[in-house]
Amino acid sequence: MKLDVFTLFPEWFEWFESQRHVRNCVAEGSELRFLNYRETTPLSAGQVDDSPYGGGAGMVMRVDVVDAALQAAYGDSRAGRRIVLLTPSGRMFDEELAVELAAEPQLTLLCGRYEGVDERVRDHLVTDAVSIGRYVLAGGELAAMVVADAVLRKLPGALGHAQSAHEESFSAALDGDPEYPHYTRPPLYKRWGVPDVLLSGDHALVDEWRRERSRERGARQEPGA
Ligand code: ADE
Repeated sequence: MKLDVFTLFPEWFEWFESQRHVRNCVAEGSELRFLNYRETTPLSAGQVDDSPYGGGAGMVMRVDVVDAALQAAYGDSRAGRRIVLLTPSGRMFDEELAVELAAEPQLTLLCGRYEGVDERVRDHLVTDAVSIGRYVLAGGELAAMVVADAVLRKLPGALGHAQSAHEESFSAALDGDPEYPHYTRPPLYKRWGVPDVLLSGDHALVDEWRRERSRERGARQEPGA
């Protein structure tokens, strides 16, 4: 995957890039870039924002700045590229969308800052607007990291064991339910035991128990449950 993140704070992503699964993706051929809007802004003194028309507090990221950044990176060949604006008012990010984005050969994440981003970015420059939850962050950077993390770990070779992404929370293997509980040694800790079935060695029973716990958790997470 070719993943580009546009941000005013590319250095925030140094930690992200150093994570094992991200490094694995790069080793497997993925290309990651963190691009600074300030480096391509057509305005003087690195300006990227302006006061909102109609008045009000805060500053708004300018559409010409975002367009110039995309133009510098892609020229006129944006067709077919998934360009995602991170915004609290976007489509809610979930496992289904992570799977969808992981199938894209080219993915762009646009981080906003300040009060918001000029609405013409959403209307004319991006293919998607995505939110990671119903709360407001100071900017899209952490949201972009959340999306990039969930997407990259799905790529082949990102995780050590091919199996580990297969039967995990919300996967098709679990019919979209959350994952079952895990236990490891010691079998008894402070009188807190481990379910007998997991120590039984009976794989069919273990599978059945896990599926059941997964279903229970899924039912509990349903809205209104
Ligand atoms: N930018 C600020 N808050 C956000 C959120 N909740 N999701 C995505 N982008 C954001």
